[in-house]
Amino acid sequence: MSHAEDHEGTRRDFLYYATAGAGAVTVGAAVWPLVNQMNPSADVQALASIRVDVSALEVGSQLTVKWRGKPVFIRRRTEDEISAARAVPLADLVDQGAENANVAAEATAADKNRALDESGEWLVMMGVCTHLGCVPLGDGAGDFGGWFCPCHGSHYDTSGRIRKGPAPRNLPVPVAEFVDASTIKLG
Ligand code: FES
Repeated sequence: MSHAEDHEGTRRDFLYYATAGAGAVTVGAAVWPLVNQMNPSADVQALASIRVDVSALEVGSQLTVKWRGKPVFIRRRTEDEISAARAVPLADLVDQGAENANVAAEATAADKNRALDESGEWLVMMGVCTHLGCVPLGDGAGDFGGWFCPCHGSHYDTSGRIRKGPAPRNLPVPVAEFVDASTIKLG
């Protein structure tokens, strides 16, 4: 059984865009791993960048979109999540690099270097565990209130930084930007 399949039947918190460009939405945890494994990526390589309408995303919720064959988490964080992320000393972090394609390579993992916007409300990350590639559970999962990968027990905080478990790196932030008030462009 693959790591992705480990999650079948356990994930109910996601909306999936069946095709990222068209924006059609389906709900269902089992869809993602099956689609992922059957797609050698020919279809997704064409989608170098996509635009995601986030206008319906409420504070404290998360949207997952498929981009270049992988899940991307888009979370609209609460004030508590932002404060918790910003209160963590760098010294407490396993991976002290930002792991953010939008900032300098040497930037630290301070939360302001990971969030998409100045206020920290928006966090965009690849939804792929940096241990062996499972899709972590979200919505406050794990010991640090962020994401939890049950495959081997990796805990990520509200900034998507690895805090406990075997994963070596923070969840990576892909190239992303707001192109208008309600649209995030990936890639
Ligand atoms: S793949 Fe996430 S903990 Fe192993």
